[in-house]
Parts: sequence; C-alpha cells; structure tokens
Amino acid sequence: MLESYIGGRWVAGTTGEFYPDVNPATGELLGQISVAGPAEVDLAVRTAYEAFQRWRAVPAPRRGEILFRIAQLLERRKEELARLMAEEMGKVLLEARGDVQEAIDEFYYMAGEGRRLFGFTTPSEMPNKLAFTVRDPVGVVGLITPWNFPIAVPSWKLAPALIAGNTVVWKPAEDTPKVSLAFVQLMEEAGLPPGVVNVVLGPGPQTGMPLVQHPLVRVISFTGSTATGRLIAAEAARLGKRVTLEMGGKNAITVLDDANLDLATEAILWSAFGTSGQRCTAASRLLVHRAVLDELTERLVEGARRLKLGNPLHEDTRVGPIVNEKQLKRIHGYVEIGKAEGAQLLCGGEVARDGELAKGFFYKPTLFAQAAPAMRIAREEIFGPVAIIIPVDSLEEAVAINNDSDYGLSSSIFTQDINKAMKAARDMTSGLVYINHGTTGAEVHLPFGGTRGTGNGAREASVQALDSFTEWKTVYIDYSGRLQRAQID
Ligand code: UN1
Repeated sequence: MLESYIGGRWVAGTTGEFYPDVNPATGELLGQISVAGPAEVDLAVRTAYEAFQRWRAVPAPRRGEILFRIAQLLERRKEELARLMAEEMGKVLLEARGDVQEAIDEFYYMAGEGRRLFGFTTPSEMPNKLAFTVRDPVGVVGLITPWNFPIAVPSWKLAPALIAGNTVVWKPAEDTPKVSLAFVQLMEEAGLPPGVVNVVLGPGPQTGMPLVQHPLVRVISFTGSTATGRLIAAEAARLGKRVTLEMGGKNAITVLDDANLDLATEAILWSAFGTSGQRCTAASRLLVHRAVLDELTERLVEGARRLKLGNPLHEDTRVGPIVNEKQLKRIHGYVEIGKAEGAQLLCGGEVARDGELAKGFFYKPTLFAQAAPAMRIAREEIFGPVAIIIPVDSLEEAVAINNDSDYGLSSSIFTQDINKAMKAARDMTSGLVYINHGTTGAEVHLPFGGTRGTGNGAREASVQALDSFTEWKTVYIDYSGRLQRAQID
C-alpha cells in the first residue's frame, strides 16, 4: 500500500479509494495508492504551516546547504531513482538518468541562490532615509506535477520554493507515486526537516482540488494538461490565489532548404519520439521546405522504423511504453482523426503488439505527411509519438505557421544561414527558440515556459522561478528623526 507522507509519517487516505500503480511496459501491478482526500490534505497543509514558522527562520545560506546535500544524495542515488522511474512510468534509462540529472542541476543551482536571493537598494527621495527590498516566502505552497518528468519537473518547483523559505504540500501524478515518495524521503535523509515537504497521493478531483482550495495554501504551481490547468486557474482566481501554470505545447521544428539534414534527422527523431513523445516540449509539427521534403521524409521514416521499442530498463531500448492505457487510446484516437482529416500516414499509426510488447502500452513511432495547418492533428496536443509533416516554401511561411498555434512553448529551426536563424530567433513567438537543435533540452539556469495557452506568463527554472514563490517586501527606514512626508515635503 502506498500512503501519503505527512510530517515524516505515513498516512493512509480516509477516502476508502485506491488507485493502481502499474508498470506500463509489463502491465505488472507495482502497488496501490491509498487515495488522500480533504482530511489528509488538511493535515498536510497544517503540518506544512507549522513547519513554515521554523523553516522561514533558518538563514537562506543554511537552507542552501541542505539543498546542496539533496543534490549530492540525488547524485549518489541517480541510478536507483532512474530505474524506479523507468519501471513506474516507462521512460527509457538513458532519459530517466537525464531526468534525475536535471534535478541534481536544479538543486545545486538553487543551493547557490541561498547566498544571493538578491533584492535591491535604491535612494529615497528624502534625506536621511533608506529603501530596500527583500524576497519574502509566501508560506505554504501547493505543487501539482505530472508523470512525464517525475523528478525533474517537481525539482523546478521544490528547489526555488524551499530556498525562499516556503514549505510544501506536493501532489505528484497518480502514475508515479513510488518515485515521488523515494524523492521526498531522500530529501529528509539529506537533512530537510520533516513537515517541510509533504506528499499527498491521489488523482486531481479527490486530492488536487482540496489542495488548491485550502485556505492556508497561498500559491499553486501546476504542470500538466491544459484542461486541468484551466480548472485550477479558474478556482485560484475565484479564491484570489497566485498560480503558476505550465501546460501544453504544439512545438514545431522548421527545416529550411540549406539545413544539415543529418543533424535535422537525428534531432527530430530525438525530439519527436524521445519519452515516447510525452513531453510538453516534444516536436509534433515538422515544417519542411519543399526543396528537401522528399529526402528528409525518407530519412525520418527510415529512422522512425529503426527505433527500438521495448522495456525501458533494457539499455538498448530507444522508445518505451506510453504511460497508461487511457493515454494509449487517446493517442490512437488522434491518429484516427488524422487519417480522417486526409493526412497521409507514413509509418506507425498502431499499437505495437509484437512479442513482449503486447503486455504493455506501446505505440509505434508515427509520422504523417501532407498535413495542413488547420487540421486538428496540427493544432491539438497529442502527447505521444506522433509527428506531422507540413510542407513550406519559405522562412516567412514557416514562421507564420509556427506562431499560429494556441500554444507557444518551444520552436526550432535548422538552417546554415545566420541571417535566417537570427530572423527566426526574433520572430518566433514561443518561450523557447532553438537554432540547429530540436525542441527539447532546456537547461535549469535559463527561464522555462511558454506563451499563449502554454502558461500564464510565469517562468520556471532560472532565478525567474523565485517570482512564483516569493513576495517582494519593500522596507523604508527613516533615520531623520522627524516626519518626512513623501510627495508633500
Ligand atoms: C516537460 O516536457 O514537461 O527541455 C519538461 C526538456 C526537458 C524538460 C521538459 N528538459 O525537454
């Protein structure tokens, strides 16, 4: 039985509901979540609130030392956590190690912030008066995170929240309870006081919503689907809470006629089919110049067919399973839509059932050609190993299609022409733009986030992440010994 972890103790859910934790490659049952409801969420939030009174008083450099030790311990347990992640959500080992590495990077980075957390001083308009600013923690923050980056994405939220002096109630995705619990226990082993991070397990309606609604939770940081993010945002708006949203993507890679096609092919296969396409940064639209369309298409189809599907724990597997059956069906549903819309299926387009694969939720890497920008498969996030090719005639046309999207997370362009690359960097309206690199591969010390429907303007990672978890406090000190009236005297 997998229970919530509150104040350093295991707490069973009082909902009487359970949720299975399944290995998506084998169908094997790994455990059952005891679903937390409003009572457990309330306990977790109150525990975090109590812990906040002490944690906020720990000097930030000391908090930083604990974060540093978390990074060190993550380094030591990297392989163990990567294996647990691969088993629970199906990410291939190579990528699972990268997921843990991203958390290591983030914790080292934010540990350093403990000795910065810069505010600023500025002159006062009065004599004998000083003004300065500090970042205050907000209190208890609620984190709701997805299964596709079970260690990395929570780290983008946990590390900045903690260094700033907040305490946390974290609701990880219901598909990745074990790896999440292992992570929080590791944090305590590294010296984080119990109660500073609490984990509540369960699905959105039962567990996530009570967290969003709890009056002591001041900030919600969410990464996940657009539909859920919008629900959370509406509820947060009603209750007057701050919310950070990181949601969908419909990312495009443009390949111009002068591109290095070897590089473009490799990068597209990695960005479109890595993590089985289950990344918010995955490349799902390929805007290919007609002059290289036939050649690139041929290379991509050949490459996609060669990708080895299999158990993510095997070192030679390149594409693991889809996280669960519901997602598998959703992906196939989109493939049916694409066919009905008139796009030409080049490869894949079906559930993979050969041998061992039949036990799990595997989907063949899928490419569509002859897609039009208005098709649903060109506009809606599929979150699976499906990429569609749209022919273009110029940089300008590619940029226009790239930008004509409800989302705006990541864009990429392959060209050897510095002028075209610079114009793309200037004109592509997403939060991330890559030149001669796929749409995936963000680094933790740079802001991460998207425009339009991808988010709500907040950025994760980098120092910008602190904006989600701090309040600016402005302090005025008048040492004149008399009343000095601003704007009057
Ligand atoms: C996500 O897909 O939710 O840039 C995050 C990347 C990773 C993070 C992706 N570093 O693809």
